[in-house]
Amino acid sequence: MYSKLAMSEEPKLDQVRMYEQHEAVREQNTEDIYHEIEALKRRVKELEKGHKVYPKVPILNYKDRKRILITGGAGFVGSHLVDKLMKQGHEVTVVDNFFTGRKKNVEHWIGHENFELIHADIVNPLFIEVDQIYHLASPASPPNYMYNPVKTLKTNTIGTINMLGLAKRCRARILLASTSEVYGDPEVHPQKESYWGHVNPIGPRSCYDEGKRAAESLCYAYKKQENIEIRVARIFNTFGPRMHMNDGRVVSNFILQALQDSPITIYGKGDQTRSFQYVSDLVDGLVALMNSDYDLPVNIGNPDEYTIKEFASEILKRVGGKSEIINKEAVTDDPSRRKPDISLAKLHLHWQPRVKVMDGVNKTIEYFREELRHSNMLP
Ligand SMILES: NC(=O)c1ccc[n+]([C@@H]2O[C@H](COP(=O)([O-])OP(=O)(O)OC[C@H]3O[C@@H](n4cnc5c(N)ncnc54)[C@H](O)[C@@H]3O)[C@@H](O)[C@H]2O)c1
Repeated sequence: MYSKLAMSEEPKLDQVRMYEQHEAVREQNTEDIYHEIEALKRRVKELEKGHKVYPKVPILNYKDRKRILITGGAGFVGSHLVDKLMKQGHEVTVVDNFFTGRKKNVEHWIGHENFELIHADIVNPLFIEVDQIYHLASPASPPNYMYNPVKTLKTNTIGTINMLGLAKRCRARILLASTSEVYGDPEVHPQKESYWGHVNPIGPRSCYDEGKRAAESLCYAYKKQENIEIRVARIFNTFGPRMHMNDGRVVSNFILQALQDSPITIYGKGDQTRSFQYVSDLVDGLVALMNSDYDLPVNIGNPDEYTIKEFASEILKRVGGKSEIINKEAVTDDPSRRKPDISLAKLHLHWQPRVKVMDGVNKTIEYFREELRHSNMLP
């Protein structure tokens, strides 16, 4: 009798054990799912709050904190300037029409309480309150400024008048991002600020060169007539991360061609010289100029001079790859020599470039390699 009962009870005990094990697993799964849901709920809450992690920003007291406008702040140079001024703790407003600028360049600041992005064209007046204006808005590379030469002239003349008008109304200090192109195809070498230039007023580049010359002239007219505090930076060729791909500038052209194993194209024989500065040096120079007492034009550039063919071979050597260097017909009004004399910047701003050109080239190659990898454009 006993053995009969024991035999019939055994399967029941097994079933109970299996049931208990099953229940334990189910409880564990439920707990895991519960934790996952809780984590998701927290993430949704963060997203709803627009919670974003920003680079560290110091808190300045009201005397040191400036309200700064950067026109063209979504562009290559402008976006690096935004980074520097934001990291110093200022309130920064960018106005940009996104002709060549990109939201991506400043997206890491969007939503920050010290940062504002305005989508507008400076050819139209702008009414805001500011203490300083860095006026950078203008297409800067030949294909971009020649694309709509009338608009390039309007941006540099009407746009500059609007920004000078804003500076006058707010009693703000304004810095104009002028260019070494005001020297045209120079007959003196290296170029000093006292040199008046050699510009073709009706050539294909004149919309930019003469546009910037008019912008400088407007600055000094407003200074004389309206007592506006002005600063004028004559910027020489600059390169670095966030440069546009395919906008026809020497450095970006050569690096992209080398990375894609395409022929490296030199316009003319390649004996023309250029001096290239890395973007962080330029940004330091602009901020030093804005905060200095010096109000005549100042060259901001790196005097380290390369022929275009030397530069092409240096880039090819660093990238590796199978590109060959080829020569194409020279471009109209392409300056034959370009090198800044930076004595004034050294004297008045205590500024000089710190980044070695080839160190900057290495960083820029890495930036473009990453951009191409991202778009599946590497061979
Ligand atoms: N990068 C250089 O080598 C170099 C050399 C000399 C001078 N500069 C000067 O520095 C400034 C910045 O150059 P970059 O290389 O950053 O060029 P960029 O093209 O990257 O930036 C120019 C910015 O201005 C904006 N912009 C153009 N027209 C505008 C308008 N009408 N209203 C509002 N925004 C407008 C563009 O969308 C862009 O974001 C320019 O004024 C340029 O002339 C640059």
